Amino acid sequence: MKFTVAIDGPAAAGKGTISRAVAERFGLAHLDTGALYRAVGMKSETEGLEPIAAAKALCPEDLERDDLRTMEAGQAASIVAAIPEVRAALVAFQRDFAVREGGAVLDGRDIGTVICPQAEVKLFVTASPEVRAHRRWLELGGDEADVLEQVRERDARDMGRADSPLRPAVDALVIDTSELSIEEAVARAADQIEARR
Ligand code: C5P
Repeated sequence: MKFTVAIDGPAAAGKGTISRAVAERFGLAHLDTGALYRAVGMKSETEGLEPIAAAKALCPEDLERDDLRTMEAGQAASIVAAIPEVRAALVAFQRDFAVREGGAVLDGRDIGTVICPQAEVKLFVTASPEVRAHRRWLELGGDEADVLEQVRERDARDMGRADSPLRPAVDALVIDTSELSIEEAVARAADQIEARR
């Protein structure tokens, strides 16, 4: 059976953690679509390629780079992600992943709205900018005020772009993780999946 779970939301809201946990629990494949944009951003920066060329030339090894989780990669990703041709170059891979047998969990910014509008379950995972910046800071260190500024900057860019802006699908369930433990957030997501399987 093909079963698709679309999980969208801003940076550091808990999408990745929830996605990995429910994918494992329900035996679904998982695709972190942010990694595609991070890889395009870093490939473009380090190889001196135009972002569109980098997106078209993206290969599996690019997704194995060690620097993809850095703040720099996140910012680079959100800059290239505003370019329509970059997004277009990544659509087929994401949709093919979603229809593979057994079903899949995809997390990103536009999964429920653009990539998989027919997904059986759509979740929008969010949290206050302060909580998200604090989590990122615990993970990566640095200056917490700078991290908050970068989180806000990335939110504004992701929500403000013309092509596939970050917003909840009309039929998405919103999960605010600001005051939830990881276990509570995962349980809410799992309940939704259980109810629709
Ligand atoms: O989720 P993550 O923080 O790894 O995403 C990095 C950036 O990639 C986001 O800030 C966003 O600009 C872009 N992105 C996107 N669409 C997706 C996934 C990520 O535009 N489906």
